[in-house]
Amino acid sequence: MPESVTAVIARAGARLGRPHEARLLLAHVLGVAPSGLLLAGPPSPEALDRLDALLARREAGEPLQHLTGRAPFRTVELAVGPGVFIPRPETEVMTGWALDRLAECASTEPVVVELCAGSGAITRALVEEGPAGRFHCVELSPDAYPYLERNLAGLGVDLRLGDMAEEFADLDGRVDLVIANPPYVPLEHWQDVPAEVRDHDPALALVSGADGLDAMRVVASVARRLLKPHGWVCAEHAEVQEHSAPRVFVEAGGFTAVADHRDLTGRPRFVTARRAGRMIP
Ligand SMILES: C[S@@+](CC[C@H](N)C(=O)[O-])C[C@H]1O[C@@H](n2cnc3c(N)ncnc32)[C@H](O)[C@@H]1O
Repeated sequence: MPESVTAVIARAGARLGRPHEARLLLAHVLGVAPSGLLLAGPPSPEALDRLDALLARREAGEPLQHLTGRAPFRTVELAVGPGVFIPRPETEVMTGWALDRLAECASTEPVVVELCAGSGAITRALVEEGPAGRFHCVELSPDAYPYLERNLAGLGVDLRLGDMAEEFADLDGRVDLVIANPPYVPLEHWQDVPAEVRDHDPALALVSGADGLDAMRVVASVARRLLKPHGWVCAEHAEVQEHSAPRVFVEAGGFTAVADHRDLTGRPRFVTARRAGRMIP
């Protein structure tokens, strides 16, 4: 007697200890949306074999998103895989903050720059959920860049493969919003990063110098150069950087309203600042 979808989910969920993931993996194997699973007939023996192989890889620590090739972020879904950072829910609140700033922006077509774009999750959500604008992204990793191209294809976003420190001279003083989720793990905390993250997210996406703020200092200096007077910058940081990340913007000079914000779990997560009204050289 073939095993029903519900029985397969219960068995696979118990094996992983995570029924939700078993459901997503089975939906992936059957090529249906998770919401359509209950309408699917009993999985074939070949489908069960494929599920079994994925369960084994998951048990060995591969991220769920690498197994399905997809990652949800706010209202959008991104293609992901080895070589690109998997977008995290921590970043969703900062993206919502940026959407609020864009909604109240006086420019008819705000200019937005995302530094350290990775899969393009943030910009994709800004484009899909926010007002019309002119969007630009930069990403350093040649392994991550193809995902950025794929996830933002057809949306008219200007994509650049390169170092954030050196891009966008053409946009100096013309940008309404700079947003970044830079690498921010201090070198000395590398060993504390969970194995699943350390082994499967690229090191370039995670580590950033002795105090974890090397990339943040570049974000502050690039934002200072790019932003119009009164333009906004926001950047994600580690929870231990609640005071040190805002200090980077205070010390860079040229910003007002430097503030820190919490994510949905109440942990300090991102800093925001506003370009001073009168340009300070
Ligand atoms: C934490 S990930 C964030 C990716 C994506 N924005 C997100 O939130 O899912 C940081 C990204 O910054 C990229 N990166 C690191 N240094 C960079 C640099 N100097 N210029 C541009 N991108 C950089 C990494 O390759 C990685 O994709």
